[in-house]
Amino acid sequence: MIRLSCRNTDAMIIGESDGLNLQEEFDNYKDRIANIIVELNQRKDKPGQWLQWMNLGYNEETVWYVKEFASMVEGRFDNVLVLGIGGSALGGLALSQALLKPYWNILTPEQRNNFPRIFFMDNIDPDYMNGLLDSLDLKKTLVNVITKSGSTAETMSQYMIIKDRLERELGDDYRKNIVATTDKKIGVLRQLADQEGYKTFVIPDDVGGRFSVFSAVGLLPLALVGVDIEEIVNGIKDMDLALKNTDIHQNIAAQAALVQYLLDTKKGKNISVMMPYSSKLKYISDWYVQLWAESLGKEVNNNNEVVHVGPTPVKALGATDQHSQIQLYNEGPNNKVITFIRVDNFDTELEIPKIFEYTGIGYLGGKTINNLLNAEADSTRVALADYKRPTMTISLPEVNGYHVGQLMYMLEVQTAISGELYNINAFNQPGVEQAKNYTYALMGRSGFEESAQTLNEKLVRV
Ligand code: PA5
Repeated sequence: MIRLSCRNTDAMIIGESDGLNLQEEFDNYKDRIANIIVELNQRKDKPGQWLQWMNLGYNEETVWYVKEFASMVEGRFDNVLVLGIGGSALGGLALSQALLKPYWNILTPEQRNNFPRIFFMDNIDPDYMNGLLDSLDLKKTLVNVITKSGSTAETMSQYMIIKDRLERELGDDYRKNIVATTDKKIGVLRQLADQEGYKTFVIPDDVGGRFSVFSAVGLLPLALVGVDIEEIVNGIKDMDLALKNTDIHQNIAAQAALVQYLLDTKKGKNISVMMPYSSKLKYISDWYVQLWAESLGKEVNNNNEVVHVGPTPVKALGATDQHSQIQLYNEGPNNKVITFIRVDNFDTELEIPKIFEYTGIGYLGGKTINNLLNAEADSTRVALADYKRPTMTISLPEVNGYHVGQLMYMLEVQTAISGELYNINAFNQPGVEQAKNYTYALMGRSGFEESAQTLNEKLVRV
């Protein structure tokens, strides 16, 4: 199982003014935490609670259908192109970076065991879109369009461009190159997919975008490129069982949530940095940033009082950002909690040759890059503690589907528990909807005429 250490947030290590009396706080909050865990598990099957993501590890049917489709199309495509944004892209991106061989898209077909390359078009920059479209043979590309609402302007405009090109290149057969992942009933994409006869996968009810990674949203793209999605699902299930434990001393998601909440509300540490020491886990930080920001950044609490809460998430990568952000983290404002992710065993080992023995770099010879990376993680952690900066460490035995599934599920549960501690709704996103509606208005979508008028007036001023 993955492990968590919060030791370096304790006042014994970093002092009373910046640290917590962990044992005391765990005792103070043990009943509250136990209630939150019981309630989340009781509420999860009630419609409208947006907690169905807690059941995704048990959705054997989805796993079966995803695997069946993946094996049906195996060998037919050179590329998988995912269209989606936010929660509809970041989870798949994080999983694929973590679980595929590094530099997957430039490997030969043999090195990829003949599985396709994979691309995520998660933005609408015209130069990047044209660049990618110019380099892909669309006839040999399976396009997975993913949108829960079925109407997000970025995703649907990408879909419109690509559908048009596919149809021109393939005639009526273009339908075989499109698979849609969307709501089972509502949204424009659902309507179009049914009309056009695309293969579709469902994003279950009460699963929000940023919590959808373990539905077909994340599992299908991964299965299409040959990743063992059952391994991921086993990781989620085992972590779910572990996180049902109501004892805060045994529940790592509850510990991480409580520690960050208390450091924010009592010690003014309102920035949450996620820093894996593993390039494979780089996009876990991007995914976490969205999960944390959209879930916890809220104007009003559950009592409808204006609170403007939400720690600011920041992404970093070890060792790279030791040469970019760590100066600030050590000596700048003491307003951050840093979560390191540390990997015990990498897939491979890389030895540094014993050369230049009598120079200032001779000490590196004979060691491994693995030693060096983990030595850097350890020394950064200790240096931050010397500067009285709180840090936590999540350790993964290995970067594989089982442990990455555990990690992402644990971070989801941590976010849900944090939402309860802040007493806010972690599952809505009124701030995102507002900007989406303004975009619809600006782009002339019918039904948004009034907003368009107000917006045009505001645009002159703002
Ligand atoms: O987490 C969320 O709800 C958002 O980030 C959405 O995933 C994002 O806005 C994309 O929405 P949709 O899947 O409806 O296209």
